[in-house]
Order: sequence, then structure tokens, then C-alpha cells
Amino acid sequence: MNQEEYDTIKSSVLKILGINLDPYKDEQMKRRLDSWLSRSGAPSWSVYLQRVKNEEPERKKFRDYLTINVTEFFRDGERWNYLRQNIMPDLIKVPGKLDASLRIWSAGCSIGAEPFSLAIMMDELTPGKKHYISGTDLDQGALSKARAGGPFTADEVRNISPVQKSTYFKTGGPPFFVNSQLISKITFAELNLIQNDFEKNFDLIVCRNVVIYFTTETKTLLYQKFRDALRPGGVLFVGGTEIIPRPQDFGLKSTGFSFYVRT
Ligand SMILES: C[S@@+](CC[C@H](N)C(=O)[O-])C[C@H]1O[C@@H](n2cnc3c(N)ncnc32)[C@H](O)[C@@H]1O
Repeated sequence: MNQEEYDTIKSSVLKILGINLDPYKDEQMKRRLDSWLSRSGAPSWSVYLQRVKNEEPERKKFRDYLTINVTEFFRDGERWNYLRQNIMPDLIKVPGKLDASLRIWSAGCSIGAEPFSLAIMMDELTPGKKHYISGTDLDQGALSKARAGGPFTADEVRNISPVQKSTYFKTGGPPFFVNSQLISKITFAELNLIQNDFEKNFDLIVCRNVVIYFTTETKTLLYQKFRDALRPGGVLFVGGTEIIPRPQDFGLKSTGFSFYVRT
């Protein structure tokens, strides 16, 4: 697709879906769009965009595709083990505030598997203690699934142990649903990481597999916003392919693969 065609699609996507594609890498997004059009069976973008405009189910499918909701509980298990064993003990024992509850944010939480994993981990580490756990995404469809606690596929819960399943999930499945107690531990909200302001004073921000599609400038802005949203000593947990090349430029310091602490 040429640049002119891409610009036209971008402005339609913004108008119809309210999604601004500017912050995403052009080449990757063009490839994704090309492959989506050929899968849709539509002969051209103008025909396809007309369909998206007129048909709500198609709008939903296209939005899901563009925002790429793939997720699972405790995704990259060994990183979560590192979080549990090496990062959380320090965060839980805030000096002088032994019983402090933590402020935790899953930014780009998709259908909720990530904030639910955080809630499960915190319940296991600090039984009975209340923490503030926020889950945000720009995709309303993903958020409504998260608020309903599912459904989750067998693949999405493959890292959940039998004990965790019986403690935090409803009986039955697949598909699987977390129970209402777990849902009540999370505050879900719609938030666009590029356009919206962030809450402050977080102990832990988890933003994984979200920035991979963003341009370098967008990432730079985002890392600054994350740093400002962390309390000093707070930790940012990123995806395996989302290493920050010069964390010191953002007032962050590496504290293990995929983890950065605000200095
Ligand atoms: C691949 S999922 C990652 C879900 C989860 N963090 C994980 O690692 O399993 C990426 C999510 O980022 C969200 N997203 C993409 N761009 C965003 C933006 N500008 N603001 C907020 N969320 C965004 C998408 O809607 C999608 O749900």
C-alpha cells in the first residue's frame, strides 16, 4: 500500500473507530492492514471501510484486530516468577510502612488476564490485604470482557495452577471465568496511553506487549509518562521484547531483565 492510501485509511479509522494510528510504526501497521484486507475478502479499502461504517459486528472485529488483544494469565511465566521472588518483597516492605497497601497498574490490560494475574499474585503474597489494582485499555470491547471476568480459553489459563483455579475461578469450563471476588479487586477503566493523563504514585506499573507497535518518539513520551506515574523506588515491568535502551535518560534504572526502577 502506498503512503497516500495509508493516510486515507488512517483518517477513516480515526473517524469511524476513534483510533489514531499515527503513534504506530507505519511499515508494521501497513502490513497488518494489507493482510486484514485480503482476509476480509473485500475488493478494496473503500468497500471494506464502508462495510465497517455500516456494520457493528465488522467494526468490532476490525477494532479488535487493530488493537491486538492477545494475552494470557501469567504470560512469560519465568518473568512473573522473577517479579514474585525478586521485585515484590522490596515493594511490599516499603520502609516505615510495613502494612502499606500497594498501588498497581496494568496499562494495556486487554481482556483482564494481566490484572487478574496481579490480583492473584498479591492475594497469595499478602493474604487478605487490600491493594489498589487498576486495569486500563483503550479497547472497550476488551474491557467489557475483563469486567465480566471472562470468558477465557484453556490456552489463556494454561499457567494457572489447579489450586489457583479452584480459589479464583468459577467452577466449570472451558471457557473459564474468574470469580466475582477476584473481579472486585480490580478497578477497570478506559484509558488511551498516548492521549490521556495518568494517575500518580504507583508502586508497580505493568505495561507489556503494548509498546511494540509504537514509534520510537511515542515510546519516549510514554516512558517519561510512566516514570512520572511511579513513586521513587517504584517499578516498571515491560514485555520481553520491549527493553528500554537507555533507561537513565528517563530517570529509570534496570533492576533485572524486563524491570526498571524509578531512581
Ligand atoms: C497484546 S495486548 C497485551 C495485553 C497484556 N498487557 C499482555 O501482555 O498480555 C495489547 C493491548 O494494548 C492495548 N493498546 C494498544 N494501544 C493502546 C493505547 N494507545 N492505549 C491503551 N491501550 C492500548 C490494546 O487494546 C491491547 O488490548
